[in-house]
Amino acid sequence: MPLQNKPHEAHPSLFQHAYLTSQPFLNKSATQSHLLTSGYKTEGKEKHFHVRRMDSHVAEMHTTGLRSPVFFHILYGVCLCLGVLCVLFVSLWCVLWHGGFAWDGSDQQFNWHPVLMVSGLVVLYGLAAVIYRVPFTWKQKKFTWKLVHAGLLLSALVLAVLGLCAVFDFHRAAGIPDLYSVHSWVGICTVVMFAFQWALGFAGFLLPCFPRRLRTYLKPVHIWLGIAILILSLTSCISGINEKLFFSLNGVSGEAYKSLPAEATFANFLGILLVAFGLVVFGILSKAQWKRPETDESVYPLLSENGT
Ligand code: HEM
Repeated sequence: MPLQNKPHEAHPSLFQHAYLTSQPFLNKSATQSHLLTSGYKTEGKEKHFHVRRMDSHVAEMHTTGLRSPVFFHILYGVCLCLGVLCVLFVSLWCVLWHGGFAWDGSDQQFNWHPVLMVSGLVVLYGLAAVIYRVPFTWKQKKFTWKLVHAGLLLSALVLAVLGLCAVFDFHRAAGIPDLYSVHSWVGICTVVMFAFQWALGFAGFLLPCFPRRLRTYLKPVHIWLGIAILILSLTSCISGINEKLFFSLNGVSGEAYKSLPAEATFANFLGILLVAFGLVVFGILSKAQWKRPETDESVYPLLSENGT
């Protein structure tokens, strides 16, 4: 990239001001020492701003200047535990009450659907969304974590598509019509939006041919859409759990849902775990102090000469 295109070189004081004011987690001494190490000096009437690329020592200062890192790590730990519990509970539900897993058009094939949807579209997706907030990652190059973010989300998308294949295939084998319920409508919209978001994110943030100016507009849309998809995924899961419970606990071939048998209690609790996981993810995302500090490296796409 030509030197004159770097935003902080064109307007050093503006960049420096914007940078420092956008870092609420830096304490005063960290801010001062950052000013010194950035090499901002005055010679006669001219001011020179000595450029440094994303330096690990800057990230280190951010980490040490971070407010309430202990609280972040506790919340991140809770997030991981809730994610594991969600996958465990949905799998146990399918094993203990619905006969486990198979891929032969039977009820056991259907069981892959909730497990893959919860694992992919909620847990993996949620963990990918908060990956940039982990202070440990700030000391490394952002493009590495862009790759991890994109890779986790691609895995989530693959799991979601497999989960849809499981239920469509099961419907075909059992002669059940497709896409009749509100759950299926919301669910299919969620997966389509997710696929669109992934493709746009890949093109916009990882391909060098994407116009830089458009990338600036894309970022807030990407964040908004990312949050919207997680809300829709949670909505799809809750409605799916409810629908499945109404099918299996219909009071004719088994106990009635309203008598709250063990299966209903267990699956309701799975719903609560999913909501709790979502709330913790939103909590982490909503805290400005926990954002990865923006550096000039952040604006390079992954596959450009500067990003590699
Ligand atoms: C993000 C998560 C989810 C998405 C995107 C989703 C999407 C879908 C879609 C598109 C269908 C329609 C398949 C067809 O018409 O052949 C479907 C069916 C179904 N899903 Fe889900 N699902 C999700 C999670 C769950 C969960 C956690 C359960 C819990 C058991 C569940 C239960 C069901 C049931 C019972 C059906 C068959 C009845 C129907 O078509 O509504 N889903 N799902």
